[in-house]
This record gives sequence, C-alpha cells and structure tokens, in this order.
Amino acid sequence: MRMMSKAPALVALVLLLIVQVSMQYVQADDAYQFFNWNVTYINVALLGVTQRVIAINKQFPGPELDTTTNNNIIINVHNNLDEPLLFTWNGIQQRKSAWQDGVLGTNCPILPGKNWIYQFQAKDQIGTYFYYASTSLQRAAGAFGGIRIHNRIVIAVPFLPPADDYTVLIGDWYAKNHSSLRAILDGGGQLGAPDGVLINGRAAFGSFFSVQQGKTYRLRISNVGTGSTLNFRIQNHKLLLVETEGSYTQQVFYDSIDVHVGQSYSVLVTANQAPGDFYIVASSRFGLPVLNGIAVLHYSNSRAPASGPLPAGPAPGDVNFSFNQARSIKRNLTAGAARPNPQGTFHYGLINITRTLKFFNSAPVIYHKQRFAVNDISHINPDTPLALADAFNIPNIFHLNSIPDSPQGRSPALGISVINGAYRAFFEVIFQNNENKLQSWHMDGYSFFVVGYGPGTWTTTSRQTYNLLDAVSRSTTQVYPQSWTAVMLELDNPGMWNIRSQTLQRQYLGQELYLRVFNPEMPSITQKPPQNVLKCGKAF
Ligand SMILES: *[C@@H]1O[C@H](CO)[C@@H](O)[C@H](O)[C@H]1NC(C)=O
Ligand SMILES: *[C@@H]1O[C@H](CO)[C@@H](O)[C@H](O)[C@H]1NC(C)=O
Ligand SMILES: *[C@@H]1O[C@H](CO)[C@@H](O)[C@H](O)[C@H]1NC(C)=O
Ligand SMILES: *[C@@H]1O[C@H](CO)[C@@H](O)[C@H](O)[C@H]1NC(C)=O
Ligand SMILES: *[C@@H]1O[C@H](CO)[C@@H](O)[C@H](O)[C@H]1NC(C)=O
Repeated sequence: MRMMSKAPALVALVLLLIVQVSMQYVQADDAYQFFNWNVTYINVALLGVTQRVIAINKQFPGPELDTTTNNNIIINVHNNLDEPLLFTWNGIQQRKSAWQDGVLGTNCPILPGKNWIYQFQAKDQIGTYFYYASTSLQRAAGAFGGIRIHNRIVIAVPFLPPADDYTVLIGDWYAKNHSSLRAILDGGGQLGAPDGVLINGRAAFGSFFSVQQGKTYRLRISNVGTGSTLNFRIQNHKLLLVETEGSYTQQVFYDSIDVHVGQSYSVLVTANQAPGDFYIVASSRFGLPVLNGIAVLHYSNSRAPASGPLPAGPAPGDVNFSFNQARSIKRNLTAGAARPNPQGTFHYGLINITRTLKFFNSAPVIYHKQRFAVNDISHINPDTPLALADAFNIPNIFHLNSIPDSPQGRSPALGISVINGAYRAFFEVIFQNNENKLQSWHMDGYSFFVVGYGPGTWTTTSRQTYNLLDAVSRSTTQVYPQSWTAVMLELDNPGMWNIRSQTLQRQYLGQELYLRVFNPEMPSITQKPPQNVLKCGKAF
C-alpha cells in the first residue's frame, strides 16, 4: 500500500480492489470477541476514606481487554451512571474507523440509562495499552482498565514466553470524588496535588503479584493517573524493558523507569532473589510531597513480609535522569511485531517532511477562569461532534485550520481547534513546552516516531540531534519543562483524531485539538458513520 502513489493510476486501482476484497476476507476470518460492560458507581475504601468510583461489571479497575492482532472486538457498554459516558482506547489505532474513538469530537456520548456497541479491530497492532472514560473527568474516578494485544501466533515475540503476564495500572489519585474535582475546575480553579498513588486500584499493600523463584514475568505498566509522572521500581530486582505502546524495544535493564501519565511499558522481571517478599513502588517524580504507591512482589516460597527501606528512585525533580532514560529507549529494528516484516522496515528517517507543526502549550486565564491552550487557542467541544458535522455536511460547526501551525502571538481565546492534514502527508510535530510543568501529549489514531527531546526552544538546527534510525513509535510522549519533543508520522489513517494533553485537568480545560485526515479516494470508508451512530446537537 505504501508504494501505491508511485504506481500508475490503473494499476493502483486494480491493486486497491484486490486489497479491499482480500481485506474483507481477512476481517471475516479474524476472530470476534464479545463483551458486555455494565458501568456503575461503587463505593470503595481508598486512602482512608470511602469513595464513590466508577466500576465496570462491579470491577475497579475495569476488566482487561485481552486480545490478539486483528481480532474484532465488540463491546456493549451500558451506561448506568447519572451522567453521559464515552470510552477511548488509548493507543488503539482503529484503522479506518475513527468512529469508535470515543472522544467528544467524534462521538455523541452514551446517555445515562442507554447502551452503545463499540466495534473495532486491533488492526496491525501488538502491545500494551489501556482504555478509559474520556469525558467529564471520569478517569479521576476509575473507569479505566488494561488492554493487551498479543502477536499473531505466526510472528515470533523477541523474548521467551514469560511464566505469567501481569497488568500493573499505576496512577495518582484524589480523595475527592470526580464531581467535586469537576466543580473546582468549572469554578475556574486548578486541582491541587493529588492525595496518593494507587496500584491496580489499591492503596499501599493492597496489590500482590505472585511469582515463582527462578521464573521470568512480564509486567505491563500503564500510568492511568490524572497527571503525575511516576517512577516504577522493584526492590532488589531489575526491569528489562521490552516494549513501549506497541514497539518492541532494544532490551535494556533499568533499576527504575519513569512512566509519564498516559504511557505504557512492558518489562520483564526475573525472580532471581532468595525467597521473600519485595516492595514494588510507583512514586511521584516532579511534585511535592513525593507520593508512594506500594505493592508487593511475593515469591511463592516466601516466609516473610517485605522489609527494609523502600527502594530509592531518582532524586525528586531530577529531570536529567528522565531525559537520559528517554533518549536511551530505542526500537529493535529486527524484531517482528504486528506484520510479518520486521519493525525496522518502515524507514521514517528517509521520508521528506511535508509539513512542520509547532504546538505550544500555555496556561492562560480566560474570562477570569484558568484554561489551558495550544497555540493560544483553548479548545471547547461543540454540541455537535466534529466528525458528525463533517460526515453530514453540517455547516458552521468548525472551520478547517482554525488553529495555526505555530503560535501567531495572538491573545489567548476559546475556540474550536481543527487542523487539516492531507492524507499521506508526512508530518513533523514539535511539542514546545515553555512552562515549568512537564507535559504529556497523546495522539489518537496514530503512533508517532519520537525522534528527539531537547532543552530550550526548538530551532531547525535541533533536527541535527534527531534519532532518524531507531526511535520508538508510540502514542504518548512527554515534553520536559522548558523543553521540546519532536515526533514524526505519516498521515495514513483517515478520520477526525484527537490530539490531547494526557494531564486530565489540562485536557478538560482546553489543551487539545483535532486533526482531520481525509482520503478523497475512499470517502465512504473513511467518513461513513456506523449504522448505530448516536446523534446529538445539530445531527439528527
Ligand atoms: C447493571 O448493574 C445495575 C446495578 O447492579 C443493575 O441494576 C442493572 O440491571 C445492570 N444492567 C445490566 C444491563 O446488566
Ligand atoms: C532484537 O530482536 C531480535 C529478534 O527477535 C532478537 O534476537 C534480539 O535479541 C533483539 N535485540 C535486542 C537488543 O533486544
Ligand atoms: C462527592 O463529594 C462531595 C464532597 O465531599 C459530596 O458532597 C458529594 O455528596 C459526593 N458525591 C457523591 C455522589 O458521592
Ligand atoms: C542537566 O543536564 C544539563 C545538560 O546536560 C546540565 O547543564 C545540567 O547541569 C544538568 N542538571 C543537573 C541538575 O544535573
Ligand atoms: C526528498 O527531497 C529531495 C530534495 O527535494 C529529493 O531529491 C528526494 O528524492 C526526496 N526523497 C524522497 C524519498 O521523496
């Protein structure tokens, strides 16, 4: 498919037909998995108070989506909350089906008492991800869970099968319920420091991971929290990094790993110590006070509880540690992943950039309220989702290129931010952070190559520092304080895609935008809503 633009039109058309026909068959052959999710509130005792959280089938965190490349996933979501609901599949690319993305720019929310059926394919993807309820600050109340996509059986995984495979959802947590948190933001305030760190929805010593001495385990770690970078480590055990959000990495041992909010990693841990119990720690990195989430690695033949001091992580606030670690994480070019050809087959570093975008984050006060903005526009969601307005040609909902490619020095304002991307264009995106707070940026529908991190303000000479060979491809990247991060991607996935801050309050208060990628050759595939599409606003 990638070579198609170079083929004569007729050949291209024939190829296209063959691909489309064979794709239909592939889809028909691919397995189907059905899920029924009942979303309700439950009360849980956490951090010393009983709190109302959002559960799925009474589970908090929600059930895991355990699937294999190209499986079709069908989830019937019943909303038994007292407010609208949408789920987003953080990092799942939903090829050619942005309609399942579950953010306010693409979907009308599922109203209380109603249900909606999500249907998507984990197409050409492997790896570790998570899902969460994307609106109304619901992630601060739970409504999240792990996603794992296994390699197809014919494609070798670049390490021996682990003895077991554990999901480890780490995240900062507020003792206030999400309605109270929302009231703070709606009133123009900011959320203060969180109250603690949970591991798999449990406070300190609430989660145990059982291992047998001598065996090796895979831990799939995702930071599902609201904003804090967490450092993850296990007393007396090394972490062998093997995967980042769908890229198999060059396997390197770390004592600890910084996981920024919204990111996922897989590590292998070998139970190579004398029998015992060991502390697992996820501690906040850049805010004070330092908050510790604590769980336990339990050897089956252990006779004693974990003891000694908690394992030490990098010094609080030490940005250089994180910078250096980020630069050391590289893709394994020869490992196979979702497709039969190795990961390194796509030579992103040789492709000419067709457009450079610079997204500057800022924290303006607009109409006396705290907001967050990209290129001086603080996004607000119209009542009619952008994708619906696009599909049904409803005028005056949004304007293409309503956000500039780089800041123009205008005064900050509320707006509806949509950027138009040409199908198959090759983008370089610079996330420029001139604030003193670390940023975490996510793009739906894509994984991008994170080619560089650097201090200060990005300039064209910063390109000389890019990794154009073996950068990891992922969907969420951090941007250090007073620094930039550069990513590259090919716009090969049509749809209306959300680009957002993974820091919950920033996203809620406008630090997001949409990228519209339209393929004029296949408008019906890319633009046609599913039969069960929900309608709202001016779409009916
Ligand atoms: C969901 O759970 C609620 C509360 O337990 C229950 O009343 C309701 O019938 C359930 N709905 C479905 C569709 O299972
Ligand atoms: C990269 O993947 C190959 C193929 O699976 C594997 O043999 C090799 O050990 C991996 N290299 C590193 C550095 O992880
Ligand atoms: C949320 O917390 C506030 C403040 O503690 C409390 O007044 C309110 O009742 C709580 N809401 C629910 C539904 O528990
Ligand atoms: C961090 O690294 C930069 C550049 O290498 C250096 O100038 C700075 O002194 C370092 N800061 C600390 C606290 O080590
Ligand atoms: C990239 O651009 C250069 C200079 O314009 C051109 O010579 C080269 O063929 C282009 N490369 C690709 C892969 O299109």
